[in-house]
Amino acid sequence: MDTIMALCKTLIDEEKVIQMVLSNVKKGVEKTYQKVEIKPVVIKEKYLYHISYFYEQKVKHENVEGEILLGILSEILGAYFKQGIVFTSAYDYQILFSKKGKGTLLRKAPTKFEMTLSHNREKHYILKDGVPCDFLQALGVMDASGKVYKKKYDKFKQLNKYLEFIEDAIDILKRDDGPIRIIDFGCGKAYLTFALYYYLVIQKGFQVAITGLDLKEDVIDYCNQVAKDLNYSGLRFELGDIKDYQYEGNVDLVVSLHACDTATDEALGKACAWHAKVIFAVPCCQHELFNQIKQPDLEPLLRHGVIRDKFATLVTDTLRTTALEVMSYETQMLEFIDLEHTPKNILIRAYLNPKNEVDEKKAVKTYVDYRNHFSVKPHIEKALGAVFINKIRLYNP
Ligand SMILES: C[S@@+](CC[C@H](N)C(=O)[O-])C[C@H]1O[C@@H](n2cnc3c(N)ncnc32)[C@H](O)[C@@H]1O
Repeated sequence: MDTIMALCKTLIDEEKVIQMVLSNVKKGVEKTYQKVEIKPVVIKEKYLYHISYFYEQKVKHENVEGEILLGILSEILGAYFKQGIVFTSAYDYQILFSKKGKGTLLRKAPTKFEMTLSHNREKHYILKDGVPCDFLQALGVMDASGKVYKKKYDKFKQLNKYLEFIEDAIDILKRDDGPIRIIDFGCGKAYLTFALYYYLVIQKGFQVAITGLDLKEDVIDYCNQVAKDLNYSGLRFELGDIKDYQYEGNVDLVVSLHACDTATDEALGKACAWHAKVIFAVPCCQHELFNQIKQPDLEPLLRHGVIRDKFATLVTDTLRTTALEVMSYETQMLEFIDLEHTPKNILIRAYLNPKNEVDEKKAVKTYVDYRNHFSVKPHIEKALGAVFINKIRLYNP
């Protein structure tokens, strides 16, 4: 129970809770409420929790501070309800209690991503509209007073969403033996690379060594100049192709956002070779399987080019995540930003499981069976190289 309450306290203190649901009333206790739902709200600048108690087709509401909520949880979780689910953007935590009151904590892939602070309409952004921020001004996202330009608002939201994912990974990334080493493959104009630097160094005070890599010389020159002007000393940009990129030592975080087609595979290949602790990849333009996929059962779906294209994209990314699982990563596919802003929307998030708890045999079977089902040979295999090929060779369907 101590571990469970400690987790609840951390999630509440750090404002990570998207929603909590308590259900499954214990046998033998007097049945007052059938279910309790909890959501964060901001009222008059105060971060509170809105609790809904469901009973006899009715609902009773109250708003309480985090500390009070903790008190309520310690009273009713386990003693009254046998199950609690805490939704955060990193994980869904399922809390189960046995008849004897023994608590079990299960960590699952997240199913809710957006925090809707229903009484407040302003989102809890890491970068704030109205607060001047040097790199956002340098890249033309906000004016000198800190106001975000209307036409750049989608970009501003995307940057904030991206930083939320980084925030979730901070505990894994931080180190005390040197800077956090990060490579951003296909950085382009590097809004996200600058945001990463700003967040980790200026807001959080970490030491970092970030490299942005891109094929375009003018973009690299421009980004290096902006980094110099801003005095972002741990950030540099290099010209080059992902597949040829060499780095001395290992990298902690590999990012590849919207790098086209098989460039994402190359980025994943490098990340695995470096045993990167965390990988963030938002693939785009997944063309390679379009002409390869064969699956007679799916012929009605595959005969329409536009559907075939979407389907090939999903198969490509699913194969990428299963391949990463073969390489000992825990993976999730998450919505990166609202679809209305970009169709390139799936974020592959992968955390290296250092204790090797990922079931490699199962992952190999899943990967090979799935690949064979569609008769494809995806580029991820080549990018992951001999280590991967040797792992899957041992499996004979
Ligand atoms: C669509 S932009 C995305 C830029 C940035 N990551 C973002 O999300 O805003 C894709 C970038 O990837 C770069 N790129 C594509 N293939 C690459 C490769 N093989 N090596 C290095 N950069 C690559 C392109 O030059 C381009 O600047």
